[in-house]
Amino acid sequence: MSEPDTLGEAVRRGFTADPKRVNSRWLYDDRGSRLFEEITELPEYYLTDCEREIFREHADDVVDRCPPGTELVELGAGSAEKTRHLLSALKRRQGSTTYGPIDISREALDMAVQRFADDDAIEVHPIEASFTEGLAKLGHDPATPRLIAFIGSSIGNMTPEAQRSLLREVRRHLGEEDRFLLGTDLRKDEAPMLSAYDDSQGVTAEFTLNLLRRVNRELDAEFDLGAFEHVVRFDEEKSAIESYLESQRDQTIAIDAIDLTVTFDEGERIHVEDAYKYTDEMLAALFADTGLERRASWIDEDGWFAVHLLAADER
Ligand SMILES: C[S@@+](CC[C@H](N)C(=O)[O-])C[C@H]1O[C@@H](n2cnc3c(N)ncnc32)[C@H](O)[C@@H]1O
Repeated sequence: MSEPDTLGEAVRRGFTADPKRVNSRWLYDDRGSRLFEEITELPEYYLTDCEREIFREHADDVVDRCPPGTELVELGAGSAEKTRHLLSALKRRQGSTTYGPIDISREALDMAVQRFADDDAIEVHPIEASFTEGLAKLGHDPATPRLIAFIGSSIGNMTPEAQRSLLREVRRHLGEEDRFLLGTDLRKDEAPMLSAYDDSQGVTAEFTLNLLRRVNRELDAEFDLGAFEHVVRFDEEKSAIESYLESQRDQTIAIDAIDLTVTFDEGERIHVEDAYKYTDEMLAALFADTGLERRASWIDEDGWFAVHLLAADER
């Protein structure tokens, strides 16, 4: 079943499922996007630092492997803080470039647009849409090669089926000259992975609890945020960090805008996010299953995060 495109439908379906769940895309309202930006600055959230290090050192190499005149498109751009290294490398090589950030969050797109507002050499065309809608909306001039970026290990927040479905969609949009840049977090010891999603200042907890705040505001509900706790665990078999909101007591909540009443037992959880952590085998299977051929990979000094340059395989 495809993911609902309204919060009301997502909550109706997810909160009446057993176990309860909701897709992590709904975490990103304006406040959620600002909180995510704060998360990227936390000492525990190593993902951003590792990937930034890769771009700082290898952005020119990435660009050198793309044809002249390449423009950049980015899925789930967020505030585009790391993307600036890729755009600077494109500018160094070709003087100017075009950038198309795609994101469901207006706040994230505003941050991305603002970042390059004073730079005449970067023409920004934001698209407020989901990944698949955004890809469909892109006009394609075959004469202009594209680099489609999907970084920050956002791929890891999707189910394995959704990861494959999206990468196949990207593959369909890749012409011979186009390239795809994918950032993936790598499997490592459990401790740093758990702290990245449950930091000491409680920002990641605020981020997941914000889902209930959003449901209160947009769907006229009365969730008591103090009656839920942010909980994370690593599932070895899935190779994913799972984030949950756990009910701290038996409770019944009315969600008026969708005419739904939901009951929670003490200790019952809502699954709000997965963050898959990749091994070489998982990555090789992912690329083989989706028709993508790896042209290069870069890894940070600690071996914690990897960025891959891919092209459509010859079929
Ligand atoms: C984990 S953040 C990564 C942001 C940024 N790329 C980075 O590396 O820091 C995911 C971003 O994707 C956006 N997003 C999540 N689900 C989406 C979807 N289905 N379609 C479009 N954007 C989505 C969110 O609004 C958010 O800005």
